[in-house]
Amino acid sequence: MARRILTVFGTRPEAIKLFPLVHALRGDARFDSRVCVTGQHRGMLDQVLEIAGIVPDHDLDVMQPDQSLDALTARLLTGIGQVLDAERPDWVVVQGDTATAMCGALAAYYRKIPIAHVEAGLRSGNIYHPWPEEVNRRVIGTMARLHCAPTQTAADALRRENIDPAAIHVTGNTVIDALQWVTERIRHEPGLASGLAEIETRFAGKRIVGVTSHRRENFGDGMQAIAEAIRQIAARDDVALIFPVHLNPNVRSVMQAALAGLSNVALIEPLDYLHFARLLDISTLMLTDSGGVQEEAPALGKPVLVMRETTERPEGIVAGTARLVGTDCARIVTETNRLLDDAGAYAEMARAHNPFGDGRSAGRIAELLATE
Ligand code: UD1
Ligand code: UDP
Repeated sequence: MARRILTVFGTRPEAIKLFPLVHALRGDARFDSRVCVTGQHRGMLDQVLEIAGIVPDHDLDVMQPDQSLDALTARLLTGIGQVLDAERPDWVVVQGDTATAMCGALAAYYRKIPIAHVEAGLRSGNIYHPWPEEVNRRVIGTMARLHCAPTQTAADALRRENIDPAAIHVTGNTVIDALQWVTERIRHEPGLASGLAEIETRFAGKRIVGVTSHRRENFGDGMQAIAEAIRQIAARDDVALIFPVHLNPNVRSVMQAALAGLSNVALIEPLDYLHFARLLDISTLMLTDSGGVQEEAPALGKPVLVMRETTERPEGIVAGTARLVGTDCARIVTETNRLLDDAGAYAEMARAHNPFGDGRSAGRIAELLATE
């Protein structure tokens, strides 16, 4: 009988990293694939569902404006629990370290349903960076039956926590599958990612710096410092910054107040994944505090300056494509100018590396779900 797999996700990055697995499962007769979205993100989740052609079987629609972590957690846990009681899956799949992933795993554990954790074993070693994700993923790690580690480094971290080595598999990160999938679609149909044309024309002749920022631990002083750094970089006349602003009001209010109206800065709405791939492609470098962008940029040979104090993705740093710059305004500006002005420093970072995967991770995870 086909194994019933319930894949649970709710935010933009989970949707991006799980759509390749949903595609693999639904095309395979060994599985009865079901999808539950929590709607932790609404607009940014729906953008991905549409591009990936996924119509969820369940949509909990839990998002509320500026939701608190405790209210969100409570709604997620009870909502996912009800779906599990209705579906009674053989496996529950969760990805990464969001509130949705942690609650999906906890609801499954309460029903003794085996959990497969995609992107297992990322650790920063600091429970407040990233917050609350470092604890979310550790908690999931204690409950999962199958740990799909993206890299050997992640697998080693799990072994150090005394997780059964037989349950740990290095599968690569499905983000590379997703990136290759959209890149291929754009190659066949460039019009799919042509929505930036007007901005590209406006900034013709300037080097583009792509920016994203949303981390909770950066709210307040960190966000202010990032905004000020962008303002100072934008004073250069040879550079333009394109910044799709996260829908979190704590991000938008700061960035709008500090940056709206600057001629060298395009503050735009979140881009769908096809257009974000285009932004990566046209950018000279990326300034980000995102996890996923730290994985995508190295694959494309784009230097990435990581506006965080720590990273759970050391592979990009080791490969030389990523550098931690924290949230100190002067440091962000200095490191950005160094890459823009020193061709040697730029060339050293701008080499394509694929430490995070080969684009075949979803297939490996599907095999494990069929056989474990
Ligand atoms: C969440 C994840 C974080 C992940 C990030 C990816 C948790 C605790 N955090 O953080 O790990 O890196 O997503 O982006 O799970 N909002 C909208 N529309 C959207 C999305 C968000 O309006 O499509 C607004 C809402 O007001 C919402 C707020 O953003 O309340 C915060 O969303 P939430 O999911 O709680 O946290 P993120 O900071 O997005
Ligand atoms: N992304 C996107 N549109 C945007 C900004 C980011 O599609 O406007 C993608 C990006 O390519 C990456 C993912 O969203 O795959 C990262 O999401 P986010 O930074 O919100 O979360 P994190 O990865 O930090 O958890």
